[in-house]
Amino acid sequence: MSLESSISAAAAAAFQQTHGRPPVWVAAAPGRVNVIGEHTDYNDGFVLPMAIERYTTIAAAPNQTNLIRLRSSSGSGEAVIDLIQPLKPGPKGHWANYPTGVVARFLARGLKPAGFDAMIHTTVPLGGGLSSSAALEVATATLLEAITGHRLDPVEKALLCQRAEHEYAGMPCGIMDQFISALGRKDHLLLLDCRSHATRLVPMSDPAVSVLIINSNVKHELTGSEYPTRRKQCEAAAAALGVKSLRDATADRLEEMCGQMDEVIFRRARHVIGEIERTELAAEGISAGNWPTVGQLMYASHDSLRDDYEVSCPELDTIVEIASGLGVKGGVFGSRMTGGGFGGCAVALVQTESVATISQTLAHTYRSKTGIEPTLFVSRPAQGAMMVAQPASDQTN
Ligand code: GLA
Repeated sequence: MSLESSISAAAAAAFQQTHGRPPVWVAAAPGRVNVIGEHTDYNDGFVLPMAIERYTTIAAAPNQTNLIRLRSSSGSGEAVIDLIQPLKPGPKGHWANYPTGVVARFLARGLKPAGFDAMIHTTVPLGGGLSSSAALEVATATLLEAITGHRLDPVEKALLCQRAEHEYAGMPCGIMDQFISALGRKDHLLLLDCRSHATRLVPMSDPAVSVLIINSNVKHELTGSEYPTRRKQCEAAAAALGVKSLRDATADRLEEMCGQMDEVIFRRARHVIGEIERTELAAEGISAGNWPTVGQLMYASHDSLRDDYEVSCPELDTIVEIASGLGVKGGVFGSRMTGGGFGGCAVALVQTESVATISQTLAHTYRSKTGIEPTLFVSRPAQGAMMVAQPASDQTN
């Protein structure tokens, strides 16, 4: 069975079970792992993520009302969106805020769907730093495109979802997660210039190299509060350096200004400036199949996120230490924390033939050092958002 058919079958079964009828549409959008380029997106820099073979699906069918009735197989209760009342965010942290925010943005553009019932189902680990929220937003937008018959430009779609997250989830995220979920391409990483929104697909189909994702299964509460603080610190650094954003600053200029800048702001800027450079170099390294170089850039990224940007945590540091202890001889090219930080996942670039041994060692050593059971999986770069089921008459959409 193809990935599309198995995603579609699981979503349809979940819908059928709740509603007693089959869905008409099934939209899917993937989570992501960022290979390198962390906390650079809101500094107009580069990021290099890939979509993963874990999807959020929304199966839906018309209900002949003015209501959208949403259920989620991982959240409780039913969320009801009344399409003729003004929309507003629900309680902070509620899963329905993501789809509601996207519906609100569609309505603001004059794109009003007819009412429907929907069932959300996901294989993206929730709150694990693999962009389960972006996957839900982008799946909602993909479904609404099909229902309204209005296809958005993929860049516009990603920006619409980002705005939904800002306005309805109160998270001032950058654009990486929504972009990769909307624009991911099978067997490719996406080098995204977060200033111009220009994208370059970086092929990554060498079967000898795999991307291993290690979920620390911890989530420190700092994630929400520290993110906006980092954004502000970057703005302060750009102002001190006299540039529009840290994308325009150079390492030399930063060093010159060292004595005149607040020490913390200086270190934040040093991370971002270095990370933007590492990301471009890593894209070149991957294109050339130069895995040890890419691996070194990943370790440097982790060190910088831990020491200068201060968004790692002991559990993520432990994973990266174990991975680097195995080294290239043990089949590990490089490893780093991935995503916003303070828990969630680490990513490692490994030799495919050693995946089983590496996974075992990582799991065992992490468990004995922290007492926590990690979750590990491998993913090839996957396809971005898609309709996996829709009426035959819509298929030209
Ligand atoms: C979160 C945000 C992204 C990005 C990363 C850090 O995932 O949603 O926009 O800023 O953190 O790279």
